[in-house]
Amino acid sequence: MTTKSQALLNWIDERFPLTSTWKAHLSEYYAPKNFNFWYFFGSLALLVLVIQIVTGIFLVMHYKPDGTLNASGIPVAFASVEYIMREVPGGWLIRYLHSTGASAFFIVVYLHMFRGLLYGSYRKPRELIWIFGTLIFLALMAEAFMGYLLPWGQMSYWGAQVIINLFSAIPVIGPDLSLVIRGDYVISDATLNRFFSFHVIAVPLVLIGLVAAHIIALHEVGSNNPDGVEIKKKKDANGIPLDGIPFHPYYTVKDIAGVVAFLFFFSAVVFFAPEAGGYFLEYNNFIPADPLKTPPHIAPVWYFTPFYSILRAVTYPLFGLDAKFWGVVAMGASVVIIAFLPWLDRSPVKSIRYKGPVFKIAVAIFVIAFALLGFLGVKPPEYAFFGVIPGAPVAQICSVLYFAFFLLMPWYSKIDKCKPEPERVNFK
Ligand code: HEM
Repeated sequence: MTTKSQALLNWIDERFPLTSTWKAHLSEYYAPKNFNFWYFFGSLALLVLVIQIVTGIFLVMHYKPDGTLNASGIPVAFASVEYIMREVPGGWLIRYLHSTGASAFFIVVYLHMFRGLLYGSYRKPRELIWIFGTLIFLALMAEAFMGYLLPWGQMSYWGAQVIINLFSAIPVIGPDLSLVIRGDYVISDATLNRFFSFHVIAVPLVLIGLVAAHIIALHEVGSNNPDGVEIKKKKDANGIPLDGIPFHPYYTVKDIAGVVAFLFFFSAVVFFAPEAGGYFLEYNNFIPADPLKTPPHIAPVWYFTPFYSILRAVTYPLFGLDAKFWGVVAMGASVVIIAFLPWLDRSPVKSIRYKGPVFKIAVAIFVIAFALLGFLGVKPPEYAFFGVIPGAPVAQICSVLYFAFFLLMPWYSKIDKCKPEPERVNFK
């Protein structure tokens, strides 16, 4: 460093903890040396968060949250999105980056959560990282749901109609609650305005705050790794973990490689298949919202469908409350239960590498059940596999398996025959 830049740095350091923060969180933050493919997704989630915020800022410059009809009889909100797509220079790109970004966010976050499950990253002392993560996931679902109303297409309108109506199934407070969410007796301009407000400012602020808490908690305890070994237990004479390497430059470089690979696939979708066959942008949403015309089949976007399937799987009333109410309870429980993983897993080891066959089989069944629930959620309730195996009972079985994975974990994780965890991490 030249004397001048060193002097400038000293000047800043006397007033702001720049060098010490850089060292504490990057150049002298020691991360396990055996990170693998699964460790790309945390930094990728950060990247997608930035993409969504930046593209969102540009979209807001031309988008109008207005449900009234313009002179051509088209809702102003819908027309403003079409204006962005056709008239604003580069508008189509910004919009497709944002719509593809929403799905990419969920792909990345699902893989990131799955990594946590594989390597027991939720176990002591990382319980809070996991709880912040579950809250992030909830906030992300709220953010995506409210964002989807904004283009004011048929699916925006009717999807919101179905989901907000669910709240009215809650005893006593339900009808008033759904009225508060809608701001009206039907989905209307008032709903669009409040969803816009939540989508562009309230929820993003919560998300950013939670992500900051998530990373602060992570840096307090340090990262887990594919072996589930605590690297802080074995340090050299200088107090540096024997199995650790500085995050910068080693993992900054690794993460950049991940970013390049991610952007390759991401751009392929953005430029060549932004609708992704109707999965990322549903075809019905290219039709302006019409309160008088219900689409024949209303399905949420793919990332909600596993939970939506659980909701639909409950078809029996219980204790005098209708099936819809219990469906809402089951759907809510299926997300909240994720937060309890740190206390459900009683295995003596963290990583799946050393867990026994029972846990491995349980994870495999869970993944299959989750994928089937996701698949069935995009199909109408009367769907049958190959036209013969009815989908509804399959969704019911998969819902039971989903909950069994969590609820039986204290038992099967304890009786499983695990291998001993190594003393040091494996790195070849
Ligand atoms: C906006 C969403 C999220 C962002 C930006 C984010 C960011 C990060 C980053 C940068 C890391 C460190 C790098 C890595 O280990 O991959 C991390 C670690 C972690 N995250 Fe997230 N995360 C998000 C959502 C979640 C969710 C939804 C969960 C779980 C419910 C979760 C659970 C964890 C856990 C357990 C770790 C520690 C992993 C380990 O040390 O093995 N995260 N996160």
